[in-house]
Amino acid sequence: MKLLITGGAGFIGSEFTKLAVKSGFGVVVVDKLTYAGDLERLKEVDGKFVFYKSDITNREFLEHIFKSEKPDIVVHFAAESHVDRSILDATPFIDTNIKGTQTLLDIAKDIKIELFINIATDEVYGELGKNGQFSETSPLNPNSPYSVSKASADMLGRAYHRTFELPVITLRPSNNYGPWQYPEKLIPVVILKALNNEKIPVYGKGENIREWLYVSDCAEAILMTIKKGKSGEIYNIGSGFEKRNIDVVKTILKILDKPESLISFVKDRPGHDFRYSLNTEKIQKEIGWKAKTTFEEGIEKSVKWYLDNLDWVNRKLKHLRNYWKSVYGEGK
Ligand code: NAD
Ligand code: TYD
Repeated sequence: MKLLITGGAGFIGSEFTKLAVKSGFGVVVVDKLTYAGDLERLKEVDGKFVFYKSDITNREFLEHIFKSEKPDIVVHFAAESHVDRSILDATPFIDTNIKGTQTLLDIAKDIKIELFINIATDEVYGELGKNGQFSETSPLNPNSPYSVSKASADMLGRAYHRTFELPVITLRPSNNYGPWQYPEKLIPVVILKALNNEKIPVYGKGENIREWLYVSDCAEAILMTIKKGKSGEIYNIGSGFEKRNIDVVKTILKILDKPESLISFVKDRPGHDFRYSLNTEKIQKEIGWKAKTTFEEGIEKSVKWYLDNLDWVNRKLKHLRNYWKSVYGEGK
């Protein structure tokens, strides 16, 4: 079986690529290598997969790749993935997440691919209050340019299943964290800022809640869905570990033995979703998957990974400092 993995040089895509290679699949990675992509994430499987640097909106080149590689299954991760960046400029989100997904679906339809795994997100459902959960049948109600672009990609996949009988499975994971995450997302931002004794920007009062899924658990869920999932179905992938942002920040400070005085409450994110929480009965029952890593274990392992890999992070710092300035304002 040969997998074509888009976005395989990204945070979750690379974790999945490593798992797929180790599980004996033939692997072709297609990635544009944007600021978020980095082949260093794949160094432990170097030489064990084929790589093409390509934009997923480049139909001609993608057709060439599909013709020469003849993959059986597409696992589609490639995306612009950060809400704050979609607030600064939505354009690449529409191009990559919507047009890129449509381009891939069209090619997959033409070559009659065996299975198309469309990686969506829990953010397509919109926000919850303090109670309740989203199930796969909950209506979509996305609130940020990012989540709207992902909801469009999600629905395009479902439309290609319904209209063209393309075998599509839609996966909606909750917030991932772990090694190799680019330090624009909450957990690596907090780790890096704390290590440098810099102010830690917490939006609003830090009361927003996310469901934290360790990245290797997510990769395992995706692999199991390839083996056991049913075409046309949607599966939520959640851990059950819900945390307020402020509690995530305090946990990291404690592990690093840094003072809570580093916390700085900053202007809230516009349109900030309050809470996400997934009902995962379907994936547990039908696929037999359940998250293994507790939040306490996962956050310890993540902090340790960043401490052990400061050279990687430091190489990102120049670009990051400019980005941090644009999103948090001067001096933070
Ligand atoms: P990431 O930003 O770390 O990686 C995205 C990858 O896609 C990068 O390697 C980048 O170079 C590549 N890419 C971007 N635009 C491209 C284009 N036009 N053509 C080809 N490649 C392109 O993202 P991630 O956190 O690994 O997320 C992977 C997928 O999972 C995304 O679809 C994201 O929406 C979804 N998701 C992420 C989370 C999370 O918490 N990170 C949660 C749920 C769903
Ligand atoms: P993030 O990691 O960007 O993921 P998402 O927005 O996709 O859930 O943010 C997680 C939560 O942390 C979200 O409620 C926003 C908040 N947050 C901060 O308070 N400060 C930050 O610097 C960042 C990046 C996020």
